[in-house]
Parts: sequence; C-alpha cells; structure tokens
Amino acid sequence: MEVVIKSGYEEISRAGAKVVADVLNTKPNAVLGLATGSTPLGLYKELIRMHKEEGLDFSRVTTFNLDEYVGLRIDHPQSYHHFMHENFFKHVNISSQNIYVPSGSTNNYKAFCEWYEERIKEAGGIDIQILGIGSDGHIAFNEPTSSLSSRTRLKTLAKPTIDDNARFFEDRNEVPIYAITMGVGTILEARQLLLLANGKSKAEAIAASVEGPVTSIYTASALQLHPSSIVFIDDDAASDLKMRDYYDWIQEKKPGAPQT
Ligand code: F6R
Repeated sequence: MEVVIKSGYEEISRAGAKVVADVLNTKPNAVLGLATGSTPLGLYKELIRMHKEEGLDFSRVTTFNLDEYVGLRIDHPQSYHHFMHENFFKHVNISSQNIYVPSGSTNNYKAFCEWYEERIKEAGGIDIQILGIGSDGHIAFNEPTSSLSSRTRLKTLAKPTIDDNARFFEDRNEVPIYAITMGVGTILEARQLLLLANGKSKAEAIAASVEGPVTSIYTASALQLHPSSIVFIDDDAASDLKMRDYYDWIQEKKPGAPQT
C-alpha cells in the first residue's frame, strides 16, 4: 500500500484524478469503479475539467458504482444514481449504456447482485476502483464484520453510517437503513485501488486501516492485501498515523528509484 499525504482536499482530489486519467490515457476503454459521498466530489470535478479543457475522453469507458441505497427511487435527490448523474456523468462524454449503478429498487436483490457481478466480469473486471472510507472504516457499505471475501449483496447499514449520512437528508427517518454494495472480495479484484480521505473524522479509521491488523472490523484494512493500492490523505486524516515520517520519506525518494 502506498500512503501519500497531501496538504489539503484540493491536492488529494487532483492527485486522485491524475491517477485515474493516467489509466484512461493508457487504456481508453478502461473500466472504472466509482464511489459517491462527499470525498470524491473534488476528484470528479477535476476529471470534468480535464475532459473539458484537455480532451480527456470517456466515450469508451465503462463504470460500475460501488453501492446504492435500498428503497430510494433513482430520481430521489439522495439516490446514488442521481448523485452520479449530477456530479459526474452529465458533464462528460460517457455513454449511458456503459454506466452501471446498483439498483435500490429491484424486486429480487439476490438475482440483481449476481447479475451485477456478472456484468463486471463480462466487462473484463475493474481497472481502477475509487474508494472513500467511512468513519467506522468501511469501504463501499461493507460495515464492520463484513467478510473480507464478500460479494455484491444487500447490507444493513451500521448506526454510525446512518448518523453520518443523515446530514444529506431533511428528516433523519428518511435515511435508508439498507443498501446494495459491492463486497470486499469484489473490490479486491479490481486491478488498482485508489482510496481518498480527508478530515479529522477519518483519522482513526485511516490509522486503523493503514497501520492496524487486517480485520473485518475495519474493512478498509483489506487494502493491505491488494498488490496495487494507493491512499491519498490530507494532513487531518493522517493525524493519527504513527509512521508519517516514513510515508513522507518514501514519497521524497520515489523519483530517484530505478525505473526497471
Ligand atoms: C459511497 C461509499 C462509502 C463512502 C464513505 C465515505 O459510495 O462507498 O463507503 O465512500 O461512507 O463517505 P464520505 O465521502 O461522504 O465521507
């Protein structure tokens, strides 16, 4: 796992977007795994800027979103379908038939989840998966004790997640309790993982996931098992890390490393 500490949200967003753009520039028909929430908004904004100003092309890209609330119609302002359309899809030249977001309103969740996994396989697997992290250490909606080999499925959200998400809803009682989420096993199959985190509220989860043991209590710790994962965090999110000097040293010396 590569841990890169930047001075603020803008910097992590720009660095994250650059990694995604590099993938697209080497593989124009790449498969992107996308996240919602407040964390990746800056990254999406930067990708949109690159599309508009530098011609970054999404016409051959396929996307799979990590998760969706159960029970919200796709046009609900807090549905992840709506979020992705408003904050990313409508601003770039992605083809609507190449967009996959889990359904929160199917009448057969089990069949839907199997179908979703099949679509990912059929697309050739995910080239790069963008991730945020919950204050309880979750990736996607893989809440504490989710199996590290779990697949796409219906999950009950943990109370801290419902509390965190309540800020987006007018009435707390409207916050969904269930979600469809890719599993940790599904996420680990992506060729590259890119996790972003900012703010003090993520510091404990980041320290546990980066420096603690691999455990289903913090499902983000599963990134330690992945051969190619990069974590961009700001100073606040890095504030509980014990080995910060080491991560900074590695980054400082990286440009001088032999390339072959
Ligand atoms: C959303 C997702 C979640 C969020 C996490 C952090 O698709 O997968 O795991 O990444 O809850 O949310 P924010 O970014 O709002 O703090």
